[in-house]
Amino acid sequence: MALIEFRGVQKAFGPKVVYRDLNLDVVRGESLTIIGGSGQGKSVMLKLLIGLLKSDAGSIKYDGEEVTTKSDQELAQTRRRIGMLFQGAALFDSLSVRENVAYGLREHGRPTEAELDQIVSESLSYVGLPGIEHMWPADLSGGMKKRVGLARAIAVKPEVLLYDEPTTGLDPINTTRINRLILHLKKTLNITTVVVTHDMTSAFTISDRITMIHQGSVIFTGTPDEIRAAEEPRVRDFIEGNAPHEEDTQTLLRSAG
Ligand SMILES: Nc1ncnc2c1ncn2[C@@H]1O[C@H](COP(=O)(O)OP(=O)(O)OP(=O)(O)O)[C@@H](O)[C@H]1O
Ligand SMILES: [Mg+2]
Repeated sequence: MALIEFRGVQKAFGPKVVYRDLNLDVVRGESLTIIGGSGQGKSVMLKLLIGLLKSDAGSIKYDGEEVTTKSDQELAQTRRRIGMLFQGAALFDSLSVRENVAYGLREHGRPTEAELDQIVSESLSYVGLPGIEHMWPADLSGGMKKRVGLARAIAVKPEVLLYDEPTTGLDPINTTRINRLILHLKKTLNITTVVVTHDMTSAFTISDRITMIHQGSVIFTGTPDEIRAAEEPRVRDFIEGNAPHEEDTQTLLRSAG
């Protein structure tokens, strides 16, 4: 049985239809990467899964349990099992690194300050930033912020990690570092991994399977080798970085705006 299951999921914001019919499985222990153009609904998918957004129709199951009908309290229980690295890292600027990493732990239970110290220190070491508890988000580089966000996500010892654009905006060295960390976390902590990214190099490096979404549904799922060999033109265009053939200048100008 899949750990995460989307079946016939629909989601619109007013007239804007994001998902017409989304079907997707995430298998326990795998690393699945979701690719697709900007605005295709990748972030929305992750938010539907953790119940931050409500679907209009269809079923979303986490470990066999329907998420869409859960109460807020039940959802909070599910979220405890899931770590999420939000797009843009999203650290609290008014909190120190220690408090940022401790944030989820405080929400989840009643740890003592000594326990917090221990877990925060471990989590920061894990992401290669030991001893920076006292620093503030404003003092960190973009790559460090992402890693602190990651430390916060793993501090709660989740069984699934959702990463929304973990490498966007990072230089090549930090990109490699984050990719390695994602793989390392998956291997050593046995975490099921869902990564949303535009970055095909990352996708090929970290994925067991890659899924492409386009105009409201999944148009391709396969291993990195299968996607490299795919003949579906929209998949080819995406992985080769081509703009769609039929796109004229007007469309380009609109989508660039
Ligand atoms: N809370 C919201 N209210 C209204 N529209 C929304 C909301 N969240 C997302 N959308 C719209 O849904 C569509 C999909 O958004 P989403 O953020 O999932 O795209 P994405 O695939 O993550 O894009 P990107 O790669 O740029 O991050 C977009 O058209 C967006 O404007
Ligand atoms: Mg997004």
